[in-house]
This record gives sequence, C-alpha cells and structure tokens, in this order.
Amino acid sequence: MHTEIDTLFHNLWENYCAVTPSARQIHRLLDNSQGSTIVNDHIALRTFNLEKLNLEKLAAHFRALGYHQGGEYHFEAKKLYARHFEHPDATVPKVFISELLVEKCSDALQETVQKLVADVPPSVVADRSFLYSGRHWDIDYATYQALLEESEYAAWLAAWGYRANHFTVSVNHLSQFTTLAEVNRRLKQEGYRLNSSGGEIKGSSEELLEQSSTMADRAEVDFSDQTVSIPSCFYEFALRYPDADGQLYRGFVAASADRIFESTNSKTTDSND
Ligand code: NI
Repeated sequence: MHTEIDTLFHNLWENYCAVTPSARQIHRLLDNSQGSTIVNDHIALRTFNLEKLNLEKLAAHFRALGYHQGGEYHFEAKKLYARHFEHPDATVPKVFISELLVEKCSDALQETVQKLVADVPPSVVADRSFLYSGRHWDIDYATYQALLEESEYAAWLAAWGYRANHFTVSVNHLSQFTTLAEVNRRLKQEGYRLNSSGGEIKGSSEELLEQSSTMADRAEVDFSDQTVSIPSCFYEFALRYPDADGQLYRGFVAASADRIFESTNSKTTDSND
C-alpha cells in the first residue's frame, strides 16, 4: 500500500543504524519474544534555513508522499524553528523537521555555513535520497569545534549532514511495557545512557505526550584533517495520550523537544553519572 514510504523509511533506518548501533540493539530488546513489531512514532531531520536546503526543501519529499503539515514549534534559545508533518494514515510515522535560523547566529557561523553548503547542487536536494545522503562538504576538525562552541546543532549537522537524527519507538504499541518509566528502567538495566536534561521523562499526560531518549552513540567522522569520534544519533521513546476526540495526540511539545535536541550534545549530564 505504502511501498514508497516503506522504502524511504527503510533507507533512513539503515543509514541511521550504521552510525547508531545501539538503536538496532534496543529495537531487538523491546521487540521481544512475543513477536510484537516495533512501531516507529516519528523521525527527526535537521537542516539549515538557507534557501537551497531549508525545512521546506526536505518537507517537499514528504508532501509528495501524501504528508501534510501539522504543528510548528519555536526554540528561541537554540535559534531553531520546526514543523511536524503527518500522513492521513495514522500508522505512518510522523516527521519532525527543524532548521537552524542561520541569520540569528554569529557572523563567523554564518560564513562557515554558507561555505559548507555553497557547492551542494540543487538537483541533489531535490532527490528523495537527499534525506539519507549524509554530508555534502568537507570540514576540518577545528571548524567543527568552532561551530560546537556556538551551536551543538550546527556542529552536528555540519559533521553528519542529512540523515535521521533519531527514530522513535511508539511505547503505545509495545506489548511488554505500558509506561515510559518501565522502558527507561529496562534500558538502564542494560547499561544505556538516557538524556536526563529536564528529567528523564519529558512532557506529561496533561500535555498528551511523554518522551524520553538515549544519549547519542558516538561514531567516527572523517574530517578533512583527521578522524574523530563524536556524538552521532540517538533513539527516542514516545507515549501518546488520547485527545478530546479520543484519538491519540499527533503533535509535539516544544518544551520537551527543546530538551530532546540535547541528546546529541557532547557534554550533557546523563543519568549514569
Ligand atoms: Ni523526536
């Protein structure tokens, strides 16, 4: 029925797992002997708000597959803007796309980012495979570190490029777990580090969405001058509650998403400290 959508998410998943081995392990851990299959609540994508590859350029690939725009979200301190996209078929994963508001950043960051994206051909962005195509520029380690000083988001994007920043297990569809606290406890038993910024569980039943996430794995990036292991991607867990119509809430909670972004920070406190 949704062959093209399935293919896209398969490609995104394989590309994501290549730098996030813990996701595949956790997927197996939660997809237990009962034979339940993991339902993906949403993925998240990151970009710069520059015309040639902004949020809408990424969204176009999902609109072409029948998605429409849901809510929008502002993250003043991190200088980010985001929208979520959903499909008429509620079983199809939602997509959360954010973009860095480059013009609000320092002159130095703006100059760096403009240089990085200068040679990305528009035809590459217009192809659906752009969504899991990785990085399209060379960057040296010092430039990455300079970006990191100002924006963890910019540094992550400059190093990793285009790929799912995270996949998300729908806790509603797990057979052996009913609460996020149970999932978190199991993950910690297995030695996984959770993002504890603002508490391990972000959101509440009143907000109709609770989320938690691992801290990102680390994986090697080939910078132009050296290879360095840096935070890659993480796995998220979401429990949704029914809204007034009795349907599971499909939106996001900005305050929670704000903390979830920090799962790729290189120096965030974590629950196993
Ligand atoms: Ni998310």
